Amino acid sequence: MAFLSLDGIVKRYGDHTVVDGVGFRAEKGEFIVFVGPSGCGKSTLLRMIAGLEEITAGTLAIDGREVTHVEPAARQVAMVFQSYALYPHMSVFENMAFGLQMAKMPADEIRRRVEEAAAILQIGPLLQRKPRQLSGGQRQRVAIGRAIVRHPKLFLFDEPLSNLDAELRTQMRIEIARLHQKLGVTMVYVTHDQIEAMTLADRIVVLRAGRIEQVGTPSELYDAPVNTFVAGFIGSPRMNFLPATVAEAAEDRLTLTHPSFVDGRLVAAPRRGGARVGARGGARVGDRVTVGLRPEHLALDGAAPSLRLRAEMTENLGGSTQIYARPADGEALSILTPGRPAVAAGDELPVRVAPEQIYLFDGAGLAI
Ligand SMILES: Nc1ncnc2c1ncn2[C@@H]1O[C@H](COP(=O)(O)OP(=O)(O)O)[C@@H](O)[C@H]1O
Ligand SMILES: [Mg+2]
Repeated sequence: MAFLSLDGIVKRYGDHTVVDGVGFRAEKGEFIVFVGPSGCGKSTLLRMIAGLEEITAGTLAIDGREVTHVEPAARQVAMVFQSYALYPHMSVFENMAFGLQMAKMPADEIRRRVEEAAAILQIGPLLQRKPRQLSGGQRQRVAIGRAIVRHPKLFLFDEPLSNLDAELRTQMRIEIARLHQKLGVTMVYVTHDQIEAMTLADRIVVLRAGRIEQVGTPSELYDAPVNTFVAGFIGSPRMNFLPATVAEAAEDRLTLTHPSFVDGRLVAAPRRGGARVGARGGARVGDRVTVGLRPEHLALDGAAPSLRLRAEMTENLGGSTQIYARPADGEALSILTPGRPAVAAGDELPVRVAPEQIYLFDGAGLAI
């Protein structure tokens, strides 16, 4: 039996539906990430799991027990928010101990738990400080410590790193991954940052407008997105999209036409690692499709080019370069290439893409 089950979860504010029938299961110990654009209902969903928001319809079960309408304190979950919300007049120790004192836990057990959490988070030397004497990263560690001391069955994180600068975010991201390994507890983590989603998750749940678009491992979502929304959301820089027409449809390969393809034609084979091998027979000659090309799959090695583009701008990223280049007809595509190729604005770029690295979507945006 799944550790966490959501069945047909709905949240309405008046007649405004913000979560619209979410069903999902997580196994014990899994690290689940909810990702999606701002306003898609991630926080609302998390708050319903925590019991901070009433569930309009559907059922929720944690560790084999239905808790749809159970009060938060009885769910054995702990939540970490974006704002640390520490008590400014209390020390780090007192902040972490406070919830346990309210629950009338014996003092020696509280001390043991706080010291254990402080050791895990490497904040032992800070226990007597006040929050104002801490950096943002240290404060967020205290907020996580406050969750750890409760020994919850389920950790919920709502964009816990959004207030930190880029370097600290990366560091804390690694610490959260380590914390999950160490504790082995089920975690549900909300973010709008697809890099956090890719790096932390065992499985990612992609949400849009209160509904699940796709659930899968990071590699599954990258390799086989079910539609253009997921394809555009997962992967950085973002996937390029280009309209084309199907000229020939064989059993397992399609020939596509568009003026920017070399000789006007591009051959797409079944995707490597994708779950759709052989499924491309589905498209018919004459169909209008959307071609998806990941920036990192576009090669400038000059061998057998598939597209002819004209360079517009380059961005030196140090170890790699991002190039924006325009086809004869349409929007600029981005290319991510290792090193620093000598490309100037106006140069014609022969770009190669392997047939099995081409993503295809039908007129409704669904993967072919
Ligand atoms: N208390 C509320 N009353 C009315 N609408 C709300 C309330 N809380 C959130 N919403 C709406 O629900 C939608 C989802 O919000 P939220 O879950 O916070 O999104 P996310 O966390 O994905 O950015 C938004 O359109 C938001 O305006
Ligand atoms: Mg939110």
